[in-house]
Amino acid sequence: MDTTPYRQLVPRGAGTDALAHVRALAWPEPAGDSERPYTLVNFVTSLDGHSTIGSDSRGLSGGADRELFYALRERADAVLVGPGTLAAERYKRMLPARERRARRLLEGRPAEPLLVTVSRSGRVALDLPLFNEPEARVLTFAPAPPVAARLAATVAQAPPAPLDAVLRTLRRDHGVRLLVCEGGPTLFGALLAAGLADELWLTLAPLLAGGASGPAVVSGPPPEGPAQATLMGVLEHSGTLFLRYSLRAART
Ligand SMILES: NC(=O)c1ccc[n+]([C@@H]2O[C@H](COP(=O)([O-])OP(=O)(O)OC[C@H]3O[C@@H](n4cnc5c(N)ncnc54)[C@H](OP(=O)(O)O)[C@@H]3O)[C@@H](O)[C@H]2O)c1
Repeated sequence: MDTTPYRQLVPRGAGTDALAHVRALAWPEPAGDSERPYTLVNFVTSLDGHSTIGSDSRGLSGGADRELFYALRERADAVLVGPGTLAAERYKRMLPARERRARRLLEGRPAEPLLVTVSRSGRVALDLPLFNEPEARVLTFAPAPPVAARLAATVAQAPPAPLDAVLRTLRRDHGVRLLVCEGGPTLFGALLAAGLADELWLTLAPLLAGGASGPAVVSGPPPEGPAQATLMGVLEHSGTLFLRYSLRAART
């Protein structure tokens, strides 16, 4: 685990591994609002811009991408996921590797990040492995409370709210300072439109998905004009590029 060597292309540096890379990063307070978490969005896409092959992203994500994905989860206080993604990707527990959970516990943090989802309709699939995981902690912002009695996970519910209010609640009531959003495209579009996405980690998989593929990484209501992004870092492994962009310029 975390042994994959990545070339560090921007800024140019010695090779790194996923855990060392993520641990070395510092995240500032979110622009213009210290009452919400810093919000980092993580996606993988094909060279031709598709976020799925078939119905999910598994065909796009290789071992090096998964290491960074889990290193980010290890660092996150909470992970925000749309109900479409929860269902399509069949979410399981957040940190399957015991070493990752042990490191968090040693730091005095919960073993796994809180999983947060938002739904105005209340259609959140409960038949996922995640909800049968006794150590999982889930918070839904949705109209109907989940039927918690038959779920092994700890599931709390809050009423639906605008995304900025959701994020402020996460910081104020749950101590969330780093929020990692794992999509999907609809939720990312809503975060962008609300000016709530601070950073994008985009894995560019070296393949062309073509016709049997899904949407781009952003869908839903467009923000007011194109959102500007500023390149902050590039890693490379076996032709896969790991791009890190600041989205703060999008709001200035
Ligand atoms: N390549 C990748 O890295 C990647 C990452 C993630 C997902 N994906 C793929 O993307 C697809 C799923 O994406 P998706 O866009 O259909 O679904 P999604 O973004 O995961 O979830 C969409 C749902 O989120 C809820 N939502 C969004 N904005 C909201 C807001 N402002 N307030 C309250 N609720 C809000 C809505 O639920 P309600 O309708 O219930 O209100 C909406 O229908 C899957 O195929 C998945 O495999 C790929």
